[in-house]
Amino acid sequence: MGGPLDEPDGNWWDNPVNRRESIWLGIAGAWSLAIFGWMSGFTRFGDQNPIGQTYEVDPDAYQQRVAAYKEEADETEEGRLLPPGDSVYVGGRRFDWDGLPVVLEAGREYDIHLGAYDVQHGFSVRPEENLSKQINLQVFPGNEWVVPMTFEEPGTYRVICNEFCGRGHNSMSGHFVVEEA
Ligand code: CUA
Repeated sequence: MGGPLDEPDGNWWDNPVNRRESIWLGIAGAWSLAIFGWMSGFTRFGDQNPIGQTYEVDPDAYQQRVAAYKEEADETEEGRLLPPGDSVYVGGRRFDWDGLPVVLEAGREYDIHLGAYDVQHGFSVRPEENLSKQINLQVFPGNEWVVPMTFEEPGTYRVICNEFCGRGHNSMSGHFVVEEA
């Protein structure tokens, strides 16, 4: 017997596989099938975050939708939007989030419509008191993504862009203000 890189002695390739090795191969094969099935089952029956619906939309048409929504929404004294219904529109563009800041009610489910006007942006939402708790979604020009979201806790939720989109990327931010209903 030499080192691990030396060829083994004798005619090893015609030897039958050792019975114990076959058993372990069988166990490993069965186990990999079991965890593969587990993954697939968990995707279907597990408690998943809602992934919403996506629609193809011309970026300009999406920008007009956001403008129409803003037109319909009321505004607070601080210049924050009050959505007219359960739909909230956010448009990413270099270098801000059109439609933000917006005031939402805690515990109410909203359909958050996400899209971009120019390039890909990263929509990252974090509660101010714990910025490491976050959700991150990618928004693309040409797609409208409708994600159901409920903010359980009142507070300020920062929205930043976490996809590099140009020189003003680091200043691309907005926020949700969630108030007790
Ligand atoms: Cu938008 Cu980075």
